[in-house]
Amino acid sequence: MKMPRVIAIATLSIASIVATALPVRAADDALPVPYQSSFRRWKHVKSMVIQKGHSLFEAFGGIHHVYVNDIGAKALRAKEELPTGTVLAFDLLEANASGGALTEGKRKFVAFMIRDPEKYADTEGWGWQAYKGGNPKKPVLKTAADQKACATCHKEVGAKQFVFSEWRR
Ligand code: HEC
Repeated sequence: MKMPRVIAIATLSIASIVATALPVRAADDALPVPYQSSFRRWKHVKSMVIQKGHSLFEAFGGIHHVYVNDIGAKALRAKEELPTGTVLAFDLLEANASGGALTEGKRKFVAFMIRDPEKYADTEGWGWQAYKGGNPKKPVLKTAADQKACATCHKEVGAKQFVFSEWRR
């Protein structure tokens, strides 16, 4: 993936936010993005493995699966406007290589983006949050600026409503 320099910098800061075991405190100036406990029962959009050598390995290395909730599934499939209430999940697991197979390991984090153009007007109409280890008590992003860093990279697909993933047929 070709990335402009500014995005590479955003990647670095996200890498350090996501990868390090920072003490977790409640979001302050950031609007809340609630943990979505049922995301594993949503619709599967696509999966991908990011290995060493990929520019995003530091932050996003492993096996990830992307899911969409029922509110957004039809519109995502049809490439139509995603309604308010659409939520996408990015579920990142360790990839354990053994005997020629890659298997899913521990969850590294799960990230959510929630569509609400009014509530999240400052971050491109999406609320952003990642939960370390998939633990609802461990939100990774503390400030509005953190959330903007997510939105900044996703702006690369601003013409696609800030969503990279397309429904795999
Ligand atoms: C450096 C760029 C970059 C940053 C920073 C970034 N993402 Fe992403 N994100 C991506 C890419 C690329 C994908 C698509 C992955 C794929 O194709 O499987 C993605 C996918 C997602 C998805 C699945 C929906 C979609 O757009 O495909 C969610 C949810 C998500 N990211 C949330 C976040 C959150 C929350 C943050 C901030 C903690 C964040 N992202 C930061 C690049 C980024």
